[in-house]
Amino acid sequence: MARIAVVAGDGIGPEVVAQARKVLETVLPGIEATEYDLGAARYHRTGEVLPDSVLDELGQHDAILLGAVGDPSVPSGVLERGLLLKLRFAFDQYVNLRPSRLWPGTTSPLANAKPGEIDLVVVREGTESLYAGAGGNLHKGTPAEVATEESLNTRHGVERVVRDAFARAAARPRRKLTLVHKNNVLTHAGDLWARTFNEVAAEYPDIATEYQHVDAAAMFLVTQPQRYDVIVTDNLFGDILTDVAAAITGGIGLAASGNINPDRRYPSMFEPVHGSAPDIAGKGLADPAAAVLSVGLLLEHLGHPEAARRVTDAVAAELAGRTPGAPLRTDEVGDRLAAAVSA
Ligand code: NAD
Ligand code: IPM
Ligand code: MN
Repeated sequence: MARIAVVAGDGIGPEVVAQARKVLETVLPGIEATEYDLGAARYHRTGEVLPDSVLDELGQHDAILLGAVGDPSVPSGVLERGLLLKLRFAFDQYVNLRPSRLWPGTTSPLANAKPGEIDLVVVREGTESLYAGAGGNLHKGTPAEVATEESLNTRHGVERVVRDAFARAAARPRRKLTLVHKNNVLTHAGDLWARTFNEVAAEYPDIATEYQHVDAAAMFLVTQPQRYDVIVTDNLFGDILTDVAAAITGGIGLAASGNINPDRRYPSMFEPVHGSAPDIAGKGLADPAAAVLSVGLLLEHLGHPEAARRVTDAVAAELAGRTPGAPLRTDEVGDRLAAAVSA
């Protein structure tokens, strides 16, 4: 039976992960889930963010379920870089998979979009670009201060995620792939992405391809999201666009993600797109749907498509039954979802 490492993390992380775990253990009884205490509390207690011994242990699991990391009491970036990004990088999770669907029963700010009409997936590169951490501060704290962040893009890193996106587009009915970058300004990395994309496209003559600059893509996601099937993009552009994609499909509380290592040399990690939401943490108000849908992606990845479908169907039915604007209780939604997957 699969062994899952659970990193609940900070803020609403533990609240939504408790529901996700309940659903996971109901839909796949016997699954072995082990909690790891990482995040702000451990940092304050011990000064540790992610000890090597814990990283090694996490690496021995079949998958990781993560809630959220980041807390106002910890300097920005310490946990985000030292824990979350370290896991994505150490486990070479180069495909950051972020599907968005407009589910029946959800409200979208887009008046012209009907449920079922938005069904897109962003394949966000997960290990490179501005996230690589190259750069620094010269003359810090002086009027002469210079801060640089360099975007690292390798042919290897770009090609493997582009290939993954083409394969995903080929497996979907619409067979369309959009490359999003900013090659009118970022001429070095943008050129590498566009050339690589066009070369791989030649191997997929039956996939419709297009290129868009990221600013235009942000606009079209809001005005014409129906036009997208699969989007492949750089790490930072993908981060921003997937919050937009979440907002147009019922909100950030519904957006699930998988940080996939397609080679399966390391565990993949599943987590909601949202963060620790300090503004609502501890109140039992967080929507656990994103975390539960992330369990669906986890089950799919581990080869349990039937269990994955039950989880997704349960969320879809629960969303369809919601009254727009009515307050939601995290644990009540979790209980309803767990009951639905066991029925
Ligand atoms: P956020 O996603 O935590 O919150 C943005 C807004 O969305 C808030 O108003 C919040 O209440 C709301 N929200 C988020 N999740 C929700 C849910 N499940 N149900 C209902 N409402 C929800 O983003 P932020 O405020 O920019 O960041 C807060 C902290 O989280 C920061 O420390 C940031 O670095 C971190 N963060 C972590 C992750 C992650 O762990 N993957 C992702 C994003 C941000
Ligand atoms: C996300 C988050 C992270 C990212 C941060 C917290 C490092 O915003 O998962 O979308 O930028 O990837
Ligand atoms: Mn983000």
